[in-house]
Amino acid sequence: MSKQEKKNILITGGAGFIGSNTLEFLFKKYPNYNFIVLDALTYAGDIKNIPDYIKESKNFKFWYGDIRNTKLVEHLISQVDTVIHFAAETHVSRSIYDDANFFETDVMGTHRVTNAVLRNREKIKRFIHISTSEVYGTALKKKMDELHDLNPASPYAAAKVGADRLVYSYVNTYGIPAVIIRPFNMYGPKQHLEKLIPRFITSCILNEPLTIHGSGNSERDFTYVEDLVRAIDLILHAPDSKVKGEVFNVGSEKSISINKIAFIITRLMKNIYKKHKIKYQQSTMNNIGDRPGQVFRHTADASKIKKILGWKPAIVFEEGLEMTINWYLENKDWWQDKIWMRHVPVETDKGKMEMH
Ligand SMILES: NC(=O)c1ccc[n+]([C@@H]2O[C@H](COP(=O)([O-])OP(=O)(O)OC[C@H]3O[C@@H](n4cnc5c(N)ncnc54)[C@H](O)[C@@H]3O)[C@@H](O)[C@H]2O)c1
Repeated sequence: MSKQEKKNILITGGAGFIGSNTLEFLFKKYPNYNFIVLDALTYAGDIKNIPDYIKESKNFKFWYGDIRNTKLVEHLISQVDTVIHFAAETHVSRSIYDDANFFETDVMGTHRVTNAVLRNREKIKRFIHISTSEVYGTALKKKMDELHDLNPASPYAAAKVGADRLVYSYVNTYGIPAVIIRPFNMYGPKQHLEKLIPRFITSCILNEPLTIHGSGNSERDFTYVEDLVRAIDLILHAPDSKVKGEVFNVGSEKSISINKIAFIITRLMKNIYKKHKIKYQQSTMNNIGDRPGQVFRHTADASKIKKILGWKPAIVFEEGLEMTINWYLENKDWWQDKIWMRHVPVETDKGKMEMH
C-alpha cells in the first residue's frame, strides 16, 4: 500500500486527547485523505480539540454520536476503508467510583465497532484498536512485552482487557484486518485535567499543592503523544504481512516515579517562570492514601514495534514536558472550565471516601 493511496478513515473518540492529536497529525500529513470523527462528546471530549481549519475542510465530517449506536456505527463504517478506534471511558479513578459506563462503552461499544468492521470486511483494509498497557497490571518482569500476563488491576483496565481480547477473538474467528496497539502512559497538549501530568501542571499554575497517591514511589512509562501518533501512522501504512492480527506495545521503555515527575515539573515551571520574569511560588506536595487498584510499576518492552516497523520515540521526557507545560500556560481558556473535574471521589478498601 503506498503512502499516497487515498484513504477514508473513521476515527472514534477523535475529540479526545489522543484521537484529536492523531487527527491533526494525519490531516496535515495526508491532505488527500478523508476523515470522519465519531464522538459522543462526553465530559472528556471537547469539540475545541478539533481545529477550525479541519472542521471547515471538505475532507472532514464530524458525527456527534455514540459508538454503542449499532445503526450509526454501521452506517459510518460502510463509508470508509480504515477505522482507528480510540473512543472509551479512560480515567482509572473514575472507574473505581462508577464503572458502569466503562463496561458499556469500552467493551460493548468496541463490540459494536468490531461487528461493523466484520459486516464491512470486503471494504475495510485496516482496523486499529487502541488498547492500553493497563491490561498488564503491575510489571512482573523488568520490561513488559506483548506476552506479559494480563492482570488488570482496576475496572478501567478490566474493561480494556475485554475490548482487547474481543478484537483479538474476531481476528482469530473471522480474520478481520485488526491491529491492537497497547500504549503505555501518554502525555501532551489537550489531555484532560483529571490525568496526572496536566493535573500537576495546572496545580503548579494555580499555586495549589500537587496531590500524590500513596508514597509516590509507583512508576510509570511516559511517552509524548506525538510519538504514539507516529507509531499509529506507521501501522496505518504497513503491509498486512507485518501487522495484521498483531499486538504492539508503544512506550519509552523507561519508568519514572510519580515523585520524580512532580519534582521535574516544579523545576521546569520555575525555569519557565524565571524566563518570563514571573514570580514563582513553588507548589507543595500533598500525599493522600494510595489509590485502590494501583499499579506499582509499568515499563514497556517496545522491541517488537522497533524491530518490525522501525519506530522509536523521538521526544525525551523533559523536552516533551516543557512543550506540554507551555501549552497549558498558553491555553488557560481550554482548561479553565475543567478545573472542578480534577479530583474524583474514591472509596478506599477501608470504606473511606477520599478525593483522588
Ligand atoms: N491517555 C493515555 O495515557 C492512554 C494510554 C493508553 C491507552 N489509552 C487509550 O487511548 C484511547 C484514547 O484515550 P484518551 O486519553 O485520548 O481519552 P480521552 O478520555 O481524552 O478521550 C476519549 C474520547 O472518547 C469519547 N467517547 C467516550 N465515550 C464514547 C462513546 N460511548 N461513544 C463515542 N465517543 C465516546 C469522548 O467524548 C472523548 O472524546 C482510549 O481507548 C484509551 O483507553 C490512553
